[in-house]
Amino acid sequence: MYRFWDTITGPVLEALRPESIVEIGSDYGPNTRRLLEFCRRHGARLHVIDPLPKYNVAAWQEQYGEHLIFHQAPSLDALPEIDRFDAVFIDGDHNWYTVFHELKLIEERCKALSQPFPLVMLHDVGWPYGRRDGYYDPDGIPDEYRNPYERKGMRPGSSDLVEEDGLNPNFPNATSENDPRNGVLTAVEDFLEQMKQEVEVMRVPGFHGLGILVPSRLKQQNAKLAEFLDVLDLPPIVARYVELVEEARVEAEIERQENKALAQENRRLKQQLQDIQSSRGWRLLTKLGLLRVRILGR
Ligand SMILES: C[S@@+](CC[C@H](N)C(=O)[O-])C[C@H]1O[C@@H](n2cnc3c(N)ncnc32)[C@H](O)[C@@H]1O
Repeated sequence: MYRFWDTITGPVLEALRPESIVEIGSDYGPNTRRLLEFCRRHGARLHVIDPLPKYNVAAWQEQYGEHLIFHQAPSLDALPEIDRFDAVFIDGDHNWYTVFHELKLIEERCKALSQPFPLVMLHDVGWPYGRRDGYYDPDGIPDEYRNPYERKGMRPGSSDLVEEDGLNPNFPNATSENDPRNGVLTAVEDFLEQMKQEVEVMRVPGFHGLGILVPSRLKQQNAKLAEFLDVLDLPPIVARYVELVEEARVEAEIERQENKALAQENRRLKQQLQDIQSSRGWRLLTKLGLLRVRILGR
């Protein structure tokens, strides 16, 4: 998500000037850090939701004080605790069940708090998770919503998971794509279909795709935001061009992951060989071999 900051998500926030931002899925925190700097500059606060953050939350809370409210819990447990939603970033568990219900909870919570539906930015509306579920915690998804999955990788153009390598080969990925109730973009579309309010969905290609849900009233009330978002509505030829660049980037990323796995395997084998060579058994065999050479040499 952080890769969109300089060109898209940062400028959107500058135009929107939210007082309360919610971020679902923080990981190592590169996007969170940028959001916190924004909050500090503008006196806003950030609710971060992540059951397994990969940084020292207490140290960040010390640094950012009242600007950071951390919820160490899955999104569907934490969202009901939040009392204001001006802008929401969704980049947590990339599957239909979670994303659809995150959006439903935000809608219901806003209704209960008499607030309008906020601007929502979601990562991974493109390939591979736009139309295919991935599960951080498969057991946490109710059986009736969990698609069959395997820890196997994905390749563009292949609906089935691939037997070797591919993208994210160790992650629980749904075994098929493009089915009903499968993937992040499908969740967004299903949510919007049942929603009563007018909300526009924009899709920005590249870096696995960014989706922006923009309530129509926001565009009417905020000319600066409307002007910026209009520029993002790419002409089809430019959108196609970016998609082609993305396809090439994804292929390169798959190759990078494969090379990394290969290098890890090489290191493991090398270590195994070194362990064998330094073992007593190996030294004994080497001595016997040398002895045999000497005897035969006589
Ligand atoms: C793709 S990473 C987020 C990357 C981050 N937004 C960035 O820009 O670097 C996904 C994160 O979502 C978290 N996560 C997984 N399931 C979640 C859930 N149900 N609710 C909230 N966060 C979740 C994971 O712990 C992980 O840190």
